[in-house]
Amino acid sequence: MGTYTPDQVRGDGKGSRVDDRVNVLAVDDEEIIRELFAQFLRSMPRYRVFTAANGREAMERIGRGDIHCCFVDLVLPGMSGLELAEAIRAFDSTIPVVIMTGHPQMDLMIQAIQSGVVDFLTKPFRNNLIPITIEKALRERSRLLENILLKEEQQKYHQLIEINNKLQEKTSELETVNLILQQINEAENSQDLFNTLVTLALRITCGDRAALGVLTGTDAGITVIAAHGRNGTVSDPKKLSWMNEEATRQVARKGIACLRRGNNGNHAVVTVPLKIRSKVFGVLSARGTPDRPPFSEKDLYFLNLLAEKASSSIENMALYASITANLFATLSSLVGAIEARDPYTKQHSTRVKQISLTVAREIGFSQEDLNILEVAASLHDIGKIGIPDHILLKPGKLTAEEYEIVKRHPAIGGDIISHFNLWGQERELIVHHHERWDGKGYPHGLAGEEIPVLARLISVVDVFDALTSDRSYRKKLPDETALDIIVKNAGSQFDPDMVQAFQSTYESGKIKKDATMVEGTVSLLRYG
Ligand SMILES: [Fe+2]
Repeated sequence: MGTYTPDQVRGDGKGSRVDDRVNVLAVDDEEIIRELFAQFLRSMPRYRVFTAANGREAMERIGRGDIHCCFVDLVLPGMSGLELAEAIRAFDSTIPVVIMTGHPQMDLMIQAIQSGVVDFLTKPFRNNLIPITIEKALRERSRLLENILLKEEQQKYHQLIEINNKLQEKTSELETVNLILQQINEAENSQDLFNTLVTLALRITCGDRAALGVLTGTDAGITVIAAHGRNGTVSDPKKLSWMNEEATRQVARKGIACLRRGNNGNHAVVTVPLKIRSKVFGVLSARGTPDRPPFSEKDLYFLNLLAEKASSSIENMALYASITANLFATLSSLVGAIEARDPYTKQHSTRVKQISLTVAREIGFSQEDLNILEVAASLHDIGKIGIPDHILLKPGKLTAEEYEIVKRHPAIGGDIISHFNLWGQERELIVHHHERWDGKGYPHGLAGEEIPVLARLISVVDVFDALTSDRSYRKKLPDETALDIIVKNAGSQFDPDMVQAFQSTYESGKIKKDATMVEGTVSLLRYG
């Protein structure tokens, strides 16, 4: 016949449901065998049989994709039975192939098994062997399918693990970027920022030590300004020797990051430049340790990101510092001009600043507090610019009305400072430097700890400097007498703790007062 003949679904209603039927393809060049095979299976509703006379026809039928099992004659014209078995396996490895042969030989059987053949049917065979062989082959098919499904599941599982790992890696990278941005933004001053930079560099790279250096001189010499190790700050220059190695200097000189993976006993080092407007001003570097994995491109990337963000923050801080320094210098000269109009107040604010800072250091205030105090003490009387000259420069005592006008100067000073939007805390000290511990001061009548602590300190020093300075209607008091007055007013006008700190600082000889002529302090001397 030479062509395949699809079986017909039984029309008698007695057969299996179409979906349950097994499609069997019999391939034999002898028509008689094909027909016998087909006839026998047609008597069994479970099977639907197709036939083909050669390999080409067989592959054409298999190509439709619904064959469950193949019976193939070993000897076929053109493509041999084994070649056909190979082709079927290549097309769909789950289709079991049974070889029909009259002379099964061992070497042939081995070759057939290698081609994916699952069973043999020796010609001539009894018909009842056909369904038995089919069912056996189908079990093999099920096993193959299960294996494939299992393999697919495993592949999917591994893919899932891989995706999850990548996701975790990306999340961790994102966290690192967030950490860099957040911590750099939180730094309040330059030293804080420098320390943040080295601790972050250490954390990101899991290194042994990290250091930040700035360029000094013209030969790319590097001075370390912050360094951390796993156990905290590193200050021993021997432990920071890599910061002045040629490779580190090269980064500073060329402005190009460098990654040394570490070998032959050398430590791994990753160094990145810090630049402002393309000009290198320093380097950030981390040194590895032999017991940890060497640095990678990822370390280099994050360190570069850190350096870029930090450089921009440093530039902003420098700009801010420059603006505030300029403004402070302008306002200080304004205070100087006010004081210069009155020979009795000359240099008063400078002395109040110096003495207040000395006492504050003794008490142990932070550098940040000292910075605030320096600005506030220097500018505490800046509001006097709003007081008319005939009152401010009046020799002798003021009237009650004039005194009320003078009492406006802390609030005026606060207004002046608030316009710059730079010194919130400093403004508070300026506004409250005439408040009293007992609440009888001005402008708001705050009492006790309602008054900012540094304002309480300025108040003590302000009065001490006034008492120990000449004025138009009296000579200056001796320091000891002034101190007595201060001590007697502890708990009423002054914060007792601030008085005690002032007294002990005075007695330790650290207050060097070079008084010339200053104002009388309004509350004690000028009025009443
Ligand atoms: Fe004042």
